[in-house]
Amino acid sequence: MTQATGSGTAAQIIDGKAISTQMKEAMKAEVVALEAKGIKPGLAVVLVGENPASVVYVRNKGKACTEVGIHSVEHKIPAETTEAQLLSLIDQLNNDPKINGILVQLPLPKHINEKRVLDAISPTKDVDGFHPFNVGKLAVGEALFPPCTPFGVIKMIEHAGVSMEGKNAVVVGRSNIVGKPVALMLLQKNATVTITHSKTKNLKEVCREADILVAAIGKANFVTADMVKPGAVVIDVGINRLDDGKLVGDVDYAPCAEVAGWITPVPGGVGPMTITMLLYNTINSAKRANGMVAETGL
Ligand code: GUN
Repeated sequence: MTQATGSGTAAQIIDGKAISTQMKEAMKAEVVALEAKGIKPGLAVVLVGENPASVVYVRNKGKACTEVGIHSVEHKIPAETTEAQLLSLIDQLNNDPKINGILVQLPLPKHINEKRVLDAISPTKDVDGFHPFNVGKLAVGEALFPPCTPFGVIKMIEHAGVSMEGKNAVVVGRSNIVGKPVALMLLQKNATVTITHSKTKNLKEVCREADILVAAIGKANFVTADMVKPGAVVIDVGINRLDDGKLVGDVDYAPCAEVAGWITPVPGGVGPMTITMLLYNTINSAKRANGMVAETGL
């Protein structure tokens, strides 16, 4: 862990790229050990159409699988694919013993009902953790597939060596993909959790009480230094592109780094962790498919 630059007392940087590399090395060894037992974890990624951001994400997921030794299959199908055709592909993957994880890249073209598609993925192969069964399992503290981005947030806090137990955790944003699940995971770790959103009163004051502050609102530089408690852990889930092309998070980084105790950069923070946790979920799925115990660590 390195110190953030700037004057005054600077936060420790939680380096998502370094943590990812370390986790991928451990997973590589685990995949070798599984192969010795005749088990090869397999991930299928489905991309409908050619959304440029999605094309990059899917390519990166394939590369990461190769790095770690996971069998990966990409199904790139045209934007005109019907919902019935997509559901038929999912059915085929649900029944393919070589495939332990299925990820349908979002967003889907408008003529396809996203909910029907996500609901069609077998909950035992739902490595995104978006199926209502897995959302429910997370809510009752029995997560099988914790959604990847929030799961990455928890791993980063753990890697920083910060205990969540008894801490005030404030989540800014209530999306189904990040805000809600990260709040449930922090609760599972025995933090006292507050979820805030656009209608929250006295947001600044609420945030300033946070020992752990998770920003997931999708607004560039939304969290300012006066919202950060001195010494807090600040996790920035946002990725926003400014008009000048620069990538920034939801946290106004440099001033907040002067106040926080730990902070995640953008890029190089939460971003790299998402794919890493996808690999983690895929390996766990392969273990379960072969009757092995696979803990999430939540
Ligand atoms: N599109 C952007 N992020 C995600 C993700 O985490 N999972 C899926 N399936 N699609 C995405």
